[in-house]
Amino acid sequence: MDVFVDDLLSRMTVEEKIGQMHQLAPGRAGMEADWLREAVRKGEIGTMLAPGEPALLNEVQRIAVEESRLGIPLIYAHDVIHGYKTVFPIPLGLAATFNPAIVEKGSEIAAMEARSAGMRWTFAPMVDVSRDPRWGRIAESFGEDPYMNAVMGVATVRGFQKDTTSEYLNVAACAKHFVGYGAAEGGKDYNTTHVTEDQLRDVYLAPFKALADEGVASFMCAFNDINGRPMSGNRPVAVDILRDEWGYDGVMVSDWGSIAQMVPHGYCTDLKDAAGRAVEGGVDIDMESRAYATHLKELLEEGKISERDLDRSVRNILCMKWKLGLFENPYTEVGGEKFCLPSSLEASREAAVESAVLLKNDGMLPLQCKGRIAVVGPLADAPVEQLGTWCGRADEDAPVSAVEAVRAECAGKASVVFEPGLTFSRGRSEKGIAKAVRAAESADVVLFFAGEERILSGEARCRADITLPGAQKEMMKALKKTGKPIVLVVMAGRPLAVAEEIEMADAVIYAFHGGTMAGPALSDLIFGKAVPSGRLPVCLPRMAGQIPVYYNRRNTGRPAHNIVMLDDIPIGARQSTLGHTSYYLDAGDGPLYTFGYGLSYTTFEYGPVTLSSSEITSGDVLKASCEVRNTGNADAYETVQLYVRDDVGSMTRPVRELKGFRKILIPAGESRKVEFTLTSEDLKYWNIGQGFIAEPGTYTLWIAPDSASGTGVNFELI
Ligand code: BGC
Repeated sequence: MDVFVDDLLSRMTVEEKIGQMHQLAPGRAGMEADWLREAVRKGEIGTMLAPGEPALLNEVQRIAVEESRLGIPLIYAHDVIHGYKTVFPIPLGLAATFNPAIVEKGSEIAAMEARSAGMRWTFAPMVDVSRDPRWGRIAESFGEDPYMNAVMGVATVRGFQKDTTSEYLNVAACAKHFVGYGAAEGGKDYNTTHVTEDQLRDVYLAPFKALADEGVASFMCAFNDINGRPMSGNRPVAVDILRDEWGYDGVMVSDWGSIAQMVPHGYCTDLKDAAGRAVEGGVDIDMESRAYATHLKELLEEGKISERDLDRSVRNILCMKWKLGLFENPYTEVGGEKFCLPSSLEASREAAVESAVLLKNDGMLPLQCKGRIAVVGPLADAPVEQLGTWCGRADEDAPVSAVEAVRAECAGKASVVFEPGLTFSRGRSEKGIAKAVRAAESADVVLFFAGEERILSGEARCRADITLPGAQKEMMKALKKTGKPIVLVVMAGRPLAVAEEIEMADAVIYAFHGGTMAGPALSDLIFGKAVPSGRLPVCLPRMAGQIPVYYNRRNTGRPAHNIVMLDDIPIGARQSTLGHTSYYLDAGDGPLYTFGYGLSYTTFEYGPVTLSSSEITSGDVLKASCEVRNTGNADAYETVQLYVRDDVGSMTRPVRELKGFRKILIPAGESRKVEFTLTSEDLKYWNIGQGFIAEPGTYTLWIAPDSASGTGVNFELI
């Protein structure tokens, strides 16, 4: 590769180099236009976001390969985020599976479908640690924990990139958005971020480092500024850390128009200035700002950038093309599309099953298929809404809704009456609600599919109020009055504040947007063909005012204690009578449900944790194990989680940090020994002034079913 690329580079003109750094999204009409074909012929475009039509793509590729001076192939890219035609749960739902194998399988299928349509580069995975449910892009993330983002991000990259049939990459993945995008102030998209040095290293950079180590083919820089420097021109982070410290030599692409956006940021005077700052900030490809195409030559002539800058970027790009095998075979087979195969739909169904989190069960689930079942709610029959955000090429005829699946399951066994109540999640008409109530009154049990339409989450879709939209709460109250048992299923792109609705329900499944097969998956869970095994990858807040609320917070000097809620404060109580600890009068302390939480149709009992030693030195391996017994009647998966706390640090340390998890099948009545290993490497954190260190002292370790339970045991690092 190096010899080939160096030779090619040595034969390129400045214009051709700049062409490689220019990316366009011409759309279908553009692909047919003469101007685009002429630009490709002249080598003025290196990569494209392109429509997935092999014949058309091949036509334009042929111009690049056969008619441009050096014959450098194009790369066709698309945002394949959680599926191409077959849609898997949104990434937040995929994280809830706590099952990296299923995530890897999902991206393998997405890669197969996308590649068969000519796409060789996807802008995924997004590993922006997301702790704010107001932020619409939390849907696209693997949730609030850096370790989880790293594990699921790596699984995604493997699924996309590996090709078992050749030495080349299958579909190039992209670690985005580098970095801190999820820390948007107030959960408002594109907003400014303030991230301390230790948060940057321990929280936001950590998953990106894991992806760089995994060999992800590309990075995308984020829209946001971080501590005052937009990420499209942030040399200290994007060059000093990513390139120099981590040695990353893949491609860095800008986000859509993000180079130009450094002007409204107030960081660059104009597009030319922005182009220069982006080059200096290590951005190899300009996505849709036209800053490089318009200004790089001028900047070069003025000596503001050097040809070495261009060579570095172009080498990265050519290497990516080489790694994709494009110099050998740049074309896509026409008519070879592999869309929505039965095995792909089955995998999507399994992922959706594992992504649903059982939050509450007063014993009514699983339901028996008998009597009369009322299916209500705006998400019960919303096949396209259940796909969630970012799936522009989805097969919109493929999704099976919940009501369809429930009907199919109950055929000949129970009667199903369907009244949506609200035709969409923001609906307000009381008329529909009255009909749903009548349906409920005539039934033995109510299945209420509530939530958010897909347009309410995703990019630039932030909400300050994260309760159920429209008249859904009113509908829940009206249903509750019927006295019928209610199963509430929440289908949403974010953690919603649904404490009241949960209180009113007899059983609650938090299902996120489950993708093409969400309906059958939910029906499998409701009727007990599958046992719930999803876990929250993010805390479920009681109300938006608590945000940020995440499990691996640091303690205060006055941890919550003797909480007195607003309504319980005696009238005229004196300031000194309530104590002075850290909580909200109206929300108490902590989330409604914590990270890692989720129920099953069986119960598990955790035995005491055994450590291989009570002391370790750096270089030792500590083994921690525990017997987990399935004490109920159903064979089921349990997600066993390992948490650690550094009890005393030279900086305050999180109350718990996830260090491992394992999802294991335990047959009813049996137990399994679960073992984790830890070394001092796993205990390192970024100490301001000292860098990554593991400090001697005592640590507490839990093996637990979620981030708030378990009995901690101590060990010492000496
Ligand atoms: C998003 C990216 C995406 C890009 C290309 C941008 O608006 O922030 O995540 O990859 O568009 O579609």
